[in-house]
Amino acid sequence: MADQDWQAYLEAIDQADLTELEALRVEVLGRRGKLTEALRALSQLPPEARRESGQMLNRTKAAIEERLMSRRQTLAESALVQRLAEERVDLTLPGEPIALGHPHPLAMIQERLVSIFVAMGFQVALGPEVEDDWHNFEALNFPKDHPARDMQDSFTLASGGWLLRTHTSPVQIRAMRASAPGPLRIIAPGRVYRRDDDATHASAFHQIEGLVVDHGVSMAHLKATLATFVRELFGSKVAIRFRPSYFPFTEPSAELDVGCLFCGQKGCVLCSETGWLEVLGAGLVHPNVLLAGGYDPEAVTGFAFGLGIERLTMLYYQIPDVRILLQGDLQFLEQF
Ligand code: PHE
Repeated sequence: MADQDWQAYLEAIDQADLTELEALRVEVLGRRGKLTEALRALSQLPPEARRESGQMLNRTKAAIEERLMSRRQTLAESALVQRLAEERVDLTLPGEPIALGHPHPLAMIQERLVSIFVAMGFQVALGPEVEDDWHNFEALNFPKDHPARDMQDSFTLASGGWLLRTHTSPVQIRAMRASAPGPLRIIAPGRVYRRDDDATHASAFHQIEGLVVDHGVSMAHLKATLATFVRELFGSKVAIRFRPSYFPFTEPSAELDVGCLFCGQKGCVLCSETGWLEVLGAGLVHPNVLLAGGYDPEAVTGFAFGLGIERLTMLYYQIPDVRILLQGDLQFLEQF
């Protein structure tokens, strides 16, 4: 084979990819390769010609081996460069933001309410969600078979006398029995249950109960406390009024309204055109309840109030429908 043919191989090697490179190596240097055969054929030549051809072929072989090696190296390097480019991480790019959660609006309002009362010197008290009839009704002056029990349709448990508490008021009894005859100032947030089955009432919801028992506690203390609370929450300009009401466990009883936050008291669907929104129930603790709590009604008096957290959250954020608070819809929740 002539020199320029070997030259053609060298040039082919410089253009080859990895597969072609291996094919070329086999073609030239393999067991039946062109160069291998040429070297084998040397033995047929006369001695002088053998020497010259032998030197030429060995140089060629060395040159081809060297080219193969350097081409292989070049290919490996460019594969590495490409891989580095593909896998490159730009540490100077801004990162993916990590989505942080936050408390649910109901939890935020509960927290806010509790902290307003804690600032006024109330202590947090908690009670069980599964209650007995005595704490939930009897001790709160609901006589057995009294129609007032119908105000709070309850879930009763199959095993005797237990029910899911219908309000946080049983915590009044538990707190009084833990503190009598000493003074008492508690706030009790928690979940309550009623067997309501219409579209606008959930069967589980949240309330906050407040109770103060001490010497000489009056309706004036109740009004001042609640007015302070409402103004802390809604601002000093909001209008408030007390309306007479009825609860078995308070006497006298009242309900507190705030001026409608949706229409500025002009009258709208949300306030039933009255200009007022009902916020909570309250009153002076009934003597029978003080007795059930272990106090002497001749010696001390008290006031109590209870409010629904869902309702207050709706007023606070001006949410017109309670159901959206319970659906876990992120488009809604992420607005808070
Ligand atoms: N427990 C009452 C209710 O659920 C609210 C209330 C609490 C009223 C304390 C007066 C005093 O409707």
